[in-house]
Formats: sequence, C-alpha cells, structure tokens
Amino acid sequence: MLTDEFGREVTGVRVSLTDRCNFDCIYCHNEGLGDTRGPMDPQDDEMETDDVVRFLEVAAEFDVDAVKFTGGEPMLRQDLEEIVDRTPDQMEVSLTTNGTFLPGRAEALVDAGLDRVNVSQDALDPEDFAAVTKSGAYEKVLEGVDAALEAGLDPVKLNMVVFEHTAGYVPEMVDHVAENEGLQLQLIEYMPELTGKPEWNIEIERVHDWLAERALEIEHREMHDRRRYWVAADGSDARSRDEPGVGMVEIVDPVENPTFCANCHRVRVTHEGYLKGCLNRNDDLRPMGEMTKSEIREAFRETVANRVPYYGEYMIKNADGEWELNEKYLDAPA
Ligand code: 5AD
Repeated sequence: MLTDEFGREVTGVRVSLTDRCNFDCIYCHNEGLGDTRGPMDPQDDEMETDDVVRFLEVAAEFDVDAVKFTGGEPMLRQDLEEIVDRTPDQMEVSLTTNGTFLPGRAEALVDAGLDRVNVSQDALDPEDFAAVTKSGAYEKVLEGVDAALEAGLDPVKLNMVVFEHTAGYVPEMVDHVAENEGLQLQLIEYMPELTGKPEWNIEIERVHDWLAERALEIEHREMHDRRRYWVAADGSDARSRDEPGVGMVEIVDPVENPTFCANCHRVRVTHEGYLKGCLNRNDDLRPMGEMTKSEIREAFRETVANRVPYYGEYMIKNADGEWELNEKYLDAPA
C-alpha cells in the first residue's frame, strides 16, 4: 500500500477510458480536462486495452482494491467487457456511465466482473433532462437503469449534479429513488473549479437542511464528512430505513471541503495514460512512459509521493477568508 506525505493511503484508482461522449452535459468537468464533445470514433490518444490492464496489474501490486472506470462515456469503448474481465480479481470494479449503452451490455459486463454502476441522471422529465445533457436520449437512460437492475447490479446509484439548473428537481428525484426498489441517489455538489461557471453554484447546505427535515434516519460518517439520509416517498407511512418506500440519499460535497480532501484515497488516470493525483489539478500529470511495468511503477510511486490535499493544503484560506494558492506550491515542480 502506498501512502502520501499526508498519511493518505491510495486504495482506489479511477481510470478514464476515453474522453469521447455521446452527451454534452453543460456542467461536465470531464475528469478535469475540459470540453468533451468531439469525434465518436476511437481515437489514437486513448490507452489500448493492454495498457489499461498493465496499469491495473501494477496498481494491484500496490494493494489497490478498487477501480472505477469513467470517461467521457466509458461504454463507448467496445473493449470495456474485456478490460473488466482482465482486471485483477482483488479489485472491486465499478463504472460511471450515462446509461445509454447498458441495454444489451449490462449482463455481459456483470459476467466479466462488474460489481457496481453509477448512472448519471440529472432530471426526471425528458425536456429538463435534454436541457442539461443536450441530448434526447432520456428513454435510453431509463432503459439502461432497468438493464443494470435486471443484470443484478442493485443498488444502482443515480448521480445527480446539484446546481442552478437541477436544484429544483431534487424533491422529485428523492421520491423517485424512494419509490423504486434498487435505486439510490447520490447528490453531487456542482464543482465550479473546472467549468468556469461559478454563477451556477447553489448552497449545498440548504439541500442538507431540506433532507434532514424529511429524513427518517441520518448517518454522518465523521471520517469522510459524508452524510446519508433515508427518506420516505411522499405519502408513504414507512418509519424505518428497511421498509419499502424508503430511499437512501447521499450528498457528496467536495467543494472547499478540506475534510473531503483529507480523506481522498484515489489516484486518477487520464484516457491518454497520464497519472493524475488530484481532480482539480492539471499541473501534476505524469505519463506512464511507454507503459512498461517498471515505468508504470515508478510513475505511480512518484504520483503518490507528490499528492497533496487540494483544499486545506494546495489551496489555503487567506486573512480575508478566501481560498488562495499556497505559496509553497507556486513554483514547485509537480
Ligand atoms: N460537478 C460535479 N460533478 C460533476 N461530474 C461531472 N462534472 C461535474 C461537475 N462540474 C460528475 C457527475 C457525473 C459524473 C460523470 O461526473 O457526477 O455523473
């Protein structure tokens, strides 16, 4: 197990398999790399199947026990089933997808070893959905969620980014997961750092307050500063979390949250095969060379050794209470 200078063990990796996407979500940070829209065909800059597998084998040597595949839209890769199948057995495998390609493929992915899936679903109404994703594939997303449930991937987590355009849909999404067995809701605080639209921010504390008022039960895991709420559907008379008609809602709020960063245990890999120590930074990318195992080992060690919590260390609060870059890192080579 590799540990960084801040005592954070690296236990998970998040691997972007492509930056191609069939959606064009207005909030998308594309794993910190910016605009996603582009050609849909496979691109030369993407890691090959063997590169991905070789990286995962090295990560496994360092006792990494979880991998999440992302993109872009990772299901645009036709070799996803093969990659999942060749992922070291010790790793729990999950996938973040827009869901549109799950019909017809969910079962094969489960057979290959997929354990969990997050489906991005930011609204329940086709028009609202199209406004956020700039895509009309709403029905396909719902079919995708069903396909995942049928393939045995429950609970399926629905990812909803909460920002100006979606905040009003939170109540109906909460009811939706409460009413439908096998679904959970993950409300993700909009991260403005990489999208250049700070004006879309909403106060996530208000969402916490609203959920706290409605919840039958609340769990606050201090260590991760994550709060989970069990909420009964509108009109349900359920009284505890295990009854039907109750849904689990979790808020992920990393923005300006040093506790969140202090508990970050993952290293990222870009679709081009660069290691990345922090979602919010692009000045710490490290190529894995020609991707021989020894080069990957070396780059992985270096990436972990240089990892720094973003809020609370790389960014610190000045005398006026504003976040600014810690001088220590102004000229420091990554
Ligand atoms: N803020 C928060 N979450 C984001 N995601 C993408 N862009 C952003 C952003 N600006 C997350 C969403 C989406 C997943 C693919 O990435 O959770 O479901």
